[in-house]
Amino acid sequence: MKYPFRSEEEFAGILKQYIRPAQPIDTPDLLQGRDQLLRELGRTLHSPGMHIFVYGERGVGKTSIALTAAKTFGKADPPYVGCDEKSTFTGIVTDICNELMGQKHLKNTRDLKGTAGFNIGVLKAEGSLSGNSVFQVPEHITSVNLAANVIIESVQKRGPGEHAVVIDEIDRIESDDVKSQFAELIKLLHDKRPPLRFVMCGIGKTLDEIIGSHLSASRPITAFELPHISFDARWKIITNAADRLSMVVPKEFLVRVSQISDGFPYYVHLIGENLFWQIYDHHTESNAASSNDFHEAISRAIARAEAPLREAYTFAIQKTKNSADYEEALWSTAHLTHFERQLKDIYERSYLPVMEYRKDRTPLPIEKFRTRLYSLCSPTHGSILIRKRNSWYAFKENVLRGYVRLIAERNKVPLGSDHF
Ligand SMILES: Nc1ncnc2c1ncn2[C@@H]1O[C@H](COP(=O)(O)OP(=O)(O)OP(=O)(O)O)[C@@H](O)[C@H]1O
Ligand SMILES: [Mg+2]
Repeated sequence: MKYPFRSEEEFAGILKQYIRPAQPIDTPDLLQGRDQLLRELGRTLHSPGMHIFVYGERGVGKTSIALTAAKTFGKADPPYVGCDEKSTFTGIVTDICNELMGQKHLKNTRDLKGTAGFNIGVLKAEGSLSGNSVFQVPEHITSVNLAANVIIESVQKRGPGEHAVVIDEIDRIESDDVKSQFAELIKLLHDKRPPLRFVMCGIGKTLDEIIGSHLSASRPITAFELPHISFDARWKIITNAADRLSMVVPKEFLVRVSQISDGFPYYVHLIGENLFWQIYDHHTESNAASSNDFHEAISRAIARAEAPLREAYTFAIQKTKNSADYEEALWSTAHLTHFERQLKDIYERSYLPVMEYRKDRTPLPIEKFRTRLYSLCSPTHGSILIRKRNSWYAFKENVLRGYVRLIAERNKVPLGSDHF
């Protein structure tokens, strides 16, 4: 067999170009199933003064498409600003400026010591000991107008051309004041017309829910809701890597990985990474994934899944009594592809079939099953499920469904077969 690598290190080097469960993607070639949307984002960015907001569920690929669109637009790695619960207006503006000027880490370095400051506009320039000028954003951004001015100066410092800044996880900002100042800033920048676009991201079902009506009604923002990735896209993540590594992943495993992921690319990367390492371990004898490789990859994926996913599942099911009931109830809720399902439908179309695979277990009657679902909606189970209208149930966050499906798969209970 001929492989494009000669050592484990070379193999790992190729693998991580294609498979990266812990990192967003920033190049169009690796961003599967988003061509159409990426084109639309590109066109919107070229519309003068227009900013973008990408929103959708946790883990659906928001940061990846935002980075890819911004990088394509700005023809360079885009400035990136992350928000969190404690973000202040001054903090966000300072981060935007420093990122634009590529000075992320300069603010507190020794470079700033012993400098003679002089003022140019609102940015304070300081000649450092090494002779380079570093610019300091005012310590307190006391008005939206000042914020707009420092940002405009920072854009000019960045150089000619148009620039896109990614502002990620806006949903995490807690303060309404910060959100409304940010809304004002966008309006003001719109009037001042700098060659700058924001590509913003946030988790939520509607834009209003994330940033409030003042910002979502803002004329210079175009919002895009990000759907789950298609089956084709899920397969391609794996087959692209397999082709490049001269390895083979049989169709049945591609189908299983796609089903388990439920459209969340994270799981495709997570299982894929472990699967390719399994193949690597026997690559001198065979270049194809075996059934054993697949099962091993599932177990490893479970062990290596992001801690919040593992914790949410464990917290929901690990109780002094009825743990197995809770697990089976979760598997059943995640069984088919509909995200919201009625009790009777879950029970008849999923729970009873799931229990057929559980040889040593007896199915609960529907009333008992209902109380289990009820409990899973309560805070003592982390409210992993939510109850909508009457007896409709859904996961609190759909990204959890992939983890639930991984566990079911390890227990030899196949989920999600209504796709085929
Ligand atoms: N279109 C895609 N094709 C292939 N892989 C993707 C795609 N979109 C995202 N990914 C991968 O999926 C994972 C999650 O992506 P990303 O971090 O962009 O999601 P997110 O929506 O920003 O998540 P969060 O809500 O946690 O911030 C990453 O491993 C990323 O590399
Ligand atoms: Mg993200």
